[in-house]
Amino acid sequence: MPVDHSPIPAPDVLSAFEAAKGFMPLNEGLALYAAATEAARLGLPLLEVGTYCGRSTLLLADAARAGGVLAVTVDHHRGSEEQQPGWEYHDPATVDPRTGVMDTLPAFRRTLYEAGLEDHVIAVVGRSPQAASVWARPLGLVFIDGGHTDAHASADYGGWVPHLAPGGLLVIHDVFPDPADGGQAPYRVYLRALESGAFTEITVTDSLRVLRRKGADDLARG
Ligand SMILES: C[S@@+](CC[C@H](N)C(=O)[O-])C[C@H]1O[C@@H](n2cnc3c(N)ncnc32)[C@H](O)[C@@H]1O
Repeated sequence: MPVDHSPIPAPDVLSAFEAAKGFMPLNEGLALYAAATEAARLGLPLLEVGTYCGRSTLLLADAARAGGVLAVTVDHHRGSEEQQPGWEYHDPATVDPRTGVMDTLPAFRRTLYEAGLEDHVIAVVGRSPQAASVWARPLGLVFIDGGHTDAHASADYGGWVPHLAPGGLLVIHDVFPDPADGGQAPYRVYLRALESGAFTEITVTDSLRVLRRKGADDLARG
């Protein structure tokens, strides 16, 4: 069953998404929203690794609200390597003036509060592998957009994908087959998923890939 591309976030959520600090273009956001809307029909939580300031979380939250499920978003809120001072994606406004280290939690909380979506999101503040190690529920969607090194992306895949229910959707951001376009860690995770034989590719929208976990029937058919 193909992902339905027609669902559009509520207009106020779309405005909040466009106003929020973050890294996801609108086109990819709409593809994420479509995947989240479909995955919510499984009646299971939608999981995001990589909250940052909540831009993509808004879309998961809106889809979760519409589908009567919860979105869970995991981040230590200290920023990825490329977001640290002196690196390409650093934003000085994300540094806590008191501690001198990055803290995106206040901006995230503001984003979610102003969009009226707090009741639909559980924010987990911590390291993704540690959070995954204490998680024990099936998930309808796993969205990987955390650390972009091989170690981080691979740990995110290994930690969360085992919880993805059959028929659930795996979404990976920043998949660049050509190294000239960006780092290769998310691409390698995407290849790992396909090579596992456990997933079918559903949509490709710029650097956003949506894969569906095969069910027992699909696997039996080969
Ligand atoms: C690319 S940003 C996420 C962007 C966000 N999804 C958006 O669309 O705006 C990556 C985030 O992953 C977080 N992160 C990196 N490694 C992590 C880890 N091991 N555990 C938890 N969060 C991590 C960083 O703190 C950063 O906020």
